[in-house]
Amino acid sequence: MSQSTRSFDSAKGPDEPFDINVDDATFARLGRWTREYGDIIPIQPDQRKSAAFVLNHPDPIRHVLIGNHKNYAKGVGFERVKMLLGNGIIVSDGDFWRSQRRMIQPAFHRKIIAAQASMMVRCNQAKLADWRKKAEQGQTVNLTEEMSELSLEVVLRSLFSDDLDALMDAEGANPFAMLVEDVTRDLKLAMKFRALTRLVAAMMAKRREESRIEHDFLSLLMETRDKDTAQPMSDKALIDEVMTIIVAGHETTAGTLNWAWYLLSQHSDVECALHAEVDAIAGDGPGFDDLPALRYTRQIIDESLRLYPPVWLFSSKAIHLDVLPTPDGPVEIPAGADLFLCPYLLHRDPRFWDEADGFNPSRFSDSSNRERNRDVYFPFSLGSRRCIGEFFSLVDMQLHLGLLARHLTLQHVPGKPVDIEPHINLRARHSIQMLPILRTS
Ligand code: HEM
Repeated sequence: MSQSTRSFDSAKGPDEPFDINVDDATFARLGRWTREYGDIIPIQPDQRKSAAFVLNHPDPIRHVLIGNHKNYAKGVGFERVKMLLGNGIIVSDGDFWRSQRRMIQPAFHRKIIAAQASMMVRCNQAKLADWRKKAEQGQTVNLTEEMSELSLEVVLRSLFSDDLDALMDAEGANPFAMLVEDVTRDLKLAMKFRALTRLVAAMMAKRREESRIEHDFLSLLMETRDKDTAQPMSDKALIDEVMTIIVAGHETTAGTLNWAWYLLSQHSDVECALHAEVDAIAGDGPGFDDLPALRYTRQIIDESLRLYPPVWLFSSKAIHLDVLPTPDGPVEIPAGADLFLCPYLLHRDPRFWDEADGFNPSRFSDSSNRERNRDVYFPFSLGSRRCIGEFFSLVDMQLHLGLLARHLTLQHVPGKPVDIEPHINLRARHSIQMLPILRTS
């Protein structure tokens, strides 16, 4: 250890033994502790065995996610996710994760997402037609639920194309809708969701039997080969990845759109600027080629992700002892330590953001982006485990806001308090109700 390296024992943290989880108790404590203590906060475990630390500064976070990422595995708190996803890439580690990620990555290439944009537009046009009707009838919408349904549909169509319609016909309804209807993510839901793997297996078998290759994620995953071994994924691994994409891909996007619409309903100046931008799009767009012109729309999404990052807390496990950089000098952490990273709190830290709790999409202008420490903003994580679906979701969200905001505004209907529920994802505790209003009326 160099002379200036501090042992973790010298870092200050709370006396109370506590196991960090994705829940209200952790959310409340982390808010307090990150204000009271330093850049690396030791937390004494309660039931768990390993030492735990909250990283409260972009320097150690960058080190863990990028600089020395090889020393880190997925952390604790994934038990419930594992029940849902088996060994999909969001939970797997080591050589298996590396090989799977390499095989899946080409499916998320820009060209493939561009080709999926017309499907996203179709889904959003159907939503527009529905909200138009509701606007005409003065009917409110349950925004939280509808964003969840819509994001689920987009992700399912990106995976299964029109096989989704055949599946819904055969099953009488969308069998994956349980993810929208039951947000508990408990063991019962996990078992019901895992039972759906048989439907995915049947779809794969049918495509093989018909030698049919579609332009969707399922076919891309079936066709992909490991660069070194030239082998495909096993069916079990493939199905786990499909289930991973469904879960990881829908709730995150849904949550972001839910908060984005709510924030817009509370900030008429931002909404006006959005309208000016979307009204300038020619024809009945936007489509994929219009996205560069939707710069401010993208900033609204970035700012919504800053204030309400769906993955508000995640963790990494140190394989070997490590020394983490902080502005006050390096701090040593032991092998086996659980490190917790909280985008929600860093995104609202007044050390890094002016008026940190305010909604101001202009802070994501190109010039402000250049000036900012880029590691204080990480809604999609950073480094090699960065979200594989980032571009997909940004395209989806920009197209959604771009199209819907051309025709409608959403007016918040007061009711239950608008409050955060910090579970695996950062959700709205109570569904947000909105009244759609036609802009042309
Ligand atoms: C607003 C939208 C989204 C946000 C904020 C988001 C955020 C994240 C974050 C923070 C991680 C890292 C989690 C960790 O390390 O524990 C992650 C990983 C991942 N995300 Fe996303 N995500 C979004 C949308 C999507 C979409 C649309 C898909 C798929 C269609 C997707 C698929 C994945 C996968 C497969 C991983 C695991 C990557 C790996 O470990 O190699 N995500 N996402």
